[in-house]
Amino acid sequence: MTFSQQLINWYRTHKRDLPWRNTTDAYLIWLSEIILQQTRVEQGMPYFFRFANAYPTVKSFAVASEDDILRMWQGLGYYSRGRNMLKTARKVVEDFDGVFPNRYDDLIRLTGIGEYTAAAIASFSANEAKAVVDGNVYRFLSRYFGVATPINTGIGKKEFQALADEILDKKKAAEHNQAMIEFGALQCKPKNPDCEVCPFNGSCLAYQKRKVADLPVKLRKLKIRERFFFFFLILNDNRILIKRRSNEDIWAGLHDLPSIEFTERTSLKQLIAHPDFNAWFNKDSVIHAVSEEVKHVLTHQRLYARFIHIENLNETYIKKNNWFWVKVKDLHQYGQPKLIFEFLKKFLN
Ligand code: ADE
Repeated sequence: MTFSQQLINWYRTHKRDLPWRNTTDAYLIWLSEIILQQTRVEQGMPYFFRFANAYPTVKSFAVASEDDILRMWQGLGYYSRGRNMLKTARKVVEDFDGVFPNRYDDLIRLTGIGEYTAAAIASFSANEAKAVVDGNVYRFLSRYFGVATPINTGIGKKEFQALADEILDKKKAAEHNQAMIEFGALQCKPKNPDCEVCPFNGSCLAYQKRKVADLPVKLRKLKIRERFFFFFLILNDNRILIKRRSNEDIWAGLHDLPSIEFTERTSLKQLIAHPDFNAWFNKDSVIHAVSEEVKHVLTHQRLYARFIHIENLNETYIKKNNWFWVKVKDLHQYGQPKLIFEFLKKFLN
């Protein structure tokens, strides 16, 4: 029996019934793959259903507004993915007459679709013989073949792609690829995999050399940036002051509150001495409530936020800063980062 046959046998008994596996619609597969780059299967599932119900075709997706897409994307983080999806959907309508491409060479040219995603869509929807290599596959391959080349380097990527291509059953690309992903997710797990029950333990090099816990190897990334925010809750009647975030920073295009940022943890006393604070507020500004620090972890950043309920704003700064009032009851219409959304939900009831 070949490696692939053994793998597919395992897959047929152990696979999960996932909604994107019951379709060959390249558009739906694209939706699922972009969501799954961002989150785990269980958390991604409700997003997949929401998107697929609201936008059953790429044509319906393409006419959505950016705000609608970002609102539905809310909570997944890394919002440029949401924006890129819209760009891609519109391009598909223009260049492919609204039929989502299913060939690797067409897919790889689209925004937000890299080698992995192109191979996934092409193989799952049209059985094209392209091997997928995602985190699950890296782990499985590096252990099975005992390869310690760091997976997040150019050389590593090439080496693992070549390995994946070599073992791919070209006639069963779709099933083989799903099986590789599933095997990494369910059997060859990151932590404490149960190698005793693994069908490959007779030929797995990492298992034989007791190196399972040491593989795959990943080079350490850049230092994490720490950011400290004070967010201001400024209310008037039943309205709240918000702003749209710039395209050059985290949460691009989403909405948050007027804020002052520091590069280190800062006391209220230091905040009050900040020139912006002095300009926006005045001696009569009453600080009503200050939240505990809320921590929020992103891929390359750690955010620490404190929320301050404050009165007596100097109104000339509303226009200067592009802030605007929205009715509290309409707030849900403005896509917000999870950190802000969760706090406001509690604070405003
Ligand atoms: N993660 C990424 N793609 C996946 C898929 N098709 N099935 C399960 N998990 C995945």
